Amino acid sequence: MAQIFPEWSNKVPVIVLAVVFGVLGPGATLAVWYYFSPEFTDVGYQPVQPIPYSHALHAGELELDCRYCHAQVERSAVASLPPTQVCMNCHKLVKQDSPKLEALRRSLARREPVPWVRIHNVPDYAYFNHAVHIKAGVGCSSCHGDVASMEVVAQAEPLSMAWCLDCHRNPEPHLRPPEEIYNTAWKPAKDHAEVAAELRAAHGINPPEACTACHR
Ligand code: HEC
Ligand code: HEC
Ligand code: HEC
Ligand code: HEC
Ligand code: HEC
Repeated sequence: MAQIFPEWSNKVPVIVLAVVFGVLGPGATLAVWYYFSPEFTDVGYQPVQPIPYSHALHAGELELDCRYCHAQVERSAVASLPPTQVCMNCHKLVKQDSPKLEALRRSLARREPVPWVRIHNVPDYAYFNHAVHIKAGVGCSSCHGDVASMEVVAQAEPLSMAWCLDCHRNPEPHLRPPEEIYNTAWKPAKDHAEVAAELRAAHGINPPEACTACHR
């Protein structure tokens, strides 16, 4: 078989590593470590979606509740995405001929779901459950950012194991009263520490740190 790369190119990775670790020192090592860590690879991930659906318009301006579309989030492990019919509740009348809704009309005609591109993902070997977190008083924005102001959703947090554990060791800053769970612009008030301590005691909140809680 013909060689596509000249033979010397086999040594390129070795040379790169030698330069990074040997010549440039710990600064560059840190840079490489950072580059390969989930903070760098996942935060900001913002794929192009089949429909230019805007949370800023629907959840922000029109003030639709998250649960109108993510109906399972309080009850099950997954938040779920809305079926086409939920969009059609309005779009059979509103902008029904818009070219931006082409993929929605196709989905309806073919009886196939809209092929939304998934953004947030934890590997299968780690267990995550939405309902448990919502019941404990953790709001959407602690993990997803201010979605109601996003034109296009981008990943706001790394979803790495260290990130999960950071909150499990010190959940108070993220515990809020039930009426604020879906408010993605929520900021803790000055007396937050007291309120959070009360919430924690009242609900007996005790996030797990044991490996088997998340790796079942
Ligand atoms: C009118 C329906 C609707 C409402 C209301 C809505 N969403 Fe969504 N949401 C969607 C759709 C459709 C998608 C998939 C397309 C996308 O990512 O924009 C989505 C995607 C998401 C995602 C990314 C999912 C992934 O793939 O990882 C998050 C997080 C999210 N929504 C959070 C929220 C929050 C928080 C609220 C309330 C502030 C909310 N949504 C309100 C329809 C809705
Ligand atoms: C509660 C009613 C309602 C629901 C439910 C709803 N929308 Fe909308 N949508 C609107 C309104 C109102 C507008 C703004 C229309 C305008 O600009 O005059 C809009 C605008 C849009 C636009 C921009 C259209 C254009 O031509 O500018 C898109 C795309 C869109 N919606 C997609 C969706 C999708 C996908 C869903 C389901 C996940 C959905 N909408 C659910 C009410 C709704
Ligand atoms: C404690 C962190 C956390 C909170 C709080 C949280 N999410 Fe998520 N969310 C995640 C993680 C992690 C994933 C990826 C899950 C996976 O890959 O199994 C995810 C995935 C999603 C998805 C993609 C579809 C799915 O069901 O996996 C949607 C939509 C979503 N979240 C919406 C919401 C909404 C709406 C809220 C608030 C009511 C919320 N999330 C609260 C961490 C969180
Ligand atoms: C912002 C805070 C926060 C983040 C981030 C967070 N959690 Fe949690 N988690 C909690 C709280 C609070 C509880 C405690 C619930 C209780 O004690 O009632 C909890 C409980 C759990 C539980 C126990 C569920 C059960 O059935 O008892 C698991 C498993 C879990 N989290 C997994 C994860 C994973 C995996 C991630 C990262 C992808 C994550 N969590 C990120 C706050 C968080
Ligand atoms: C709160 C939930 C949680 C707990 C507790 C937890 N893990 Fe993880 N772990 C995760 C998540 C989420 C990932 C996936 C991270 C990613 O995608 O980058 C992960 C990834 C891993 C990996 C894959 C390599 C890596 O670092 O990404 C190993 C190995 C691992 N965990 C071992 C452990 C061990 C051992 C313990 C107990 C000391 C533990 N985990 C406790 C959530 C947890």
